Amino acid sequence: MAHSKIIGTGSYLPGKILTNQDLESIVDTSDLWIRSRTGIEQRHIAAEDEMASDLAVNACLKAIESAEINVNKIDLIIVATTTPDMTFPSTACILQNKLGIKDCAAFDVQAVCSGFVYALATADMFIRSDRCNTALVVGTEIYSRLLDWNDRSTCVLFGDGAGAVLISKSNHQGILSSHLHADGSHYNTLSLPGNIACGKIQGKPFVSMEGNTVFKFAVRVMEEIVHEALSENNLQISEIDWLIPHQANIRIIKSTAKKLGLPMDKVVTTIAKHANTSAASIPLALDIAVRDKRIQPNQYIVLEGVGSGFTWGAVLIRW
Ligand code: ACO
Repeated sequence: MAHSKIIGTGSYLPGKILTNQDLESIVDTSDLWIRSRTGIEQRHIAAEDEMASDLAVNACLKAIESAEINVNKIDLIIVATTTPDMTFPSTACILQNKLGIKDCAAFDVQAVCSGFVYALATADMFIRSDRCNTALVVGTEIYSRLLDWNDRSTCVLFGDGAGAVLISKSNHQGILSSHLHADGSHYNTLSLPGNIACGKIQGKPFVSMEGNTVFKFAVRVMEEIVHEALSENNLQISEIDWLIPHQANIRIIKSTAKKLGLPMDKVVTTIAKHANTSAASIPLALDIAVRDKRIQPNQYIVLEGVGSGFTWGAVLIRW
């Protein structure tokens, strides 16, 4: 049976940096509060004329360069985003055009902060079932446009960025298993309830969140999903080389590691510099750990995400 393997990674952060100190002059907050409650020090903010597909192009070009393949070998593009360029067409189609790829399947996945894990799991299944050979899987977000910059409980948490991986068919195991879950009964706990109808925005067009409920839920499922992935592969937590969790809050990440009995030096964190980039956070963190050579061949790596919906999931990889 065919397997899929990650053959290239890339990421991109927009040039403008907004520090916690900068935020102190925008809302009633402090660097100390943000650092101590979230671990965030700064976030990147997209330029006015940058769209999610532009961030994605930059990340994808780096992934394509590191994989050393011709773009026309790509026969599937899946983009995970909560901030598409347009309501339609998909950001994946816009990205395909910007990359100059002539003919392939291209679509978006919407699972918010779990989006990249959902997209990677889907691409893996396309490859395993022989429907494609080389897939480009992207998480790209411009959350700064979804935030109410007068609401200190949400605007300090998020940032913009993109990450991408290329996966291709392999005789050797790469992606070992993927595990996806959703519980839509929580759809109201973390949402952006606005929508476009009759030429107008209906409802509130900003991120709205019950922070404490999200926090408790995330800590529970981030532990459970790792156990589920390990159990299916007969692995112990001590055999995991790297955990790459969704970067929402350093306290969620540390609680998860503690409950798993995993030392923090086996956890990749980028929250301090990137904040929460939703579907982009996992591929961004993965690319950084690949490029600084923490990730080495044959290591076991768990990618895990949790987000609005609620959705959550994990992908276990033998690098
Ligand atoms: N600056 C200063 N004070 C603040 C700020 C701020 N930015 N935001 C809230 N406060 C105040 C509150 O008003 C409250 O004041 P009060 O005690 O006078 O009422 C106090 O700080 C404590 O507020 P809490 O909400 O209880 O603070 P908590 O320690 O729970 O941290 C946080 C809030 C950071 C949002 C936390 O609940 C969290 O991270 N939740 C997870 C949410 C999340 O990550 N969402 C992202 C998307 S989902 C995902 O990616 C998984």
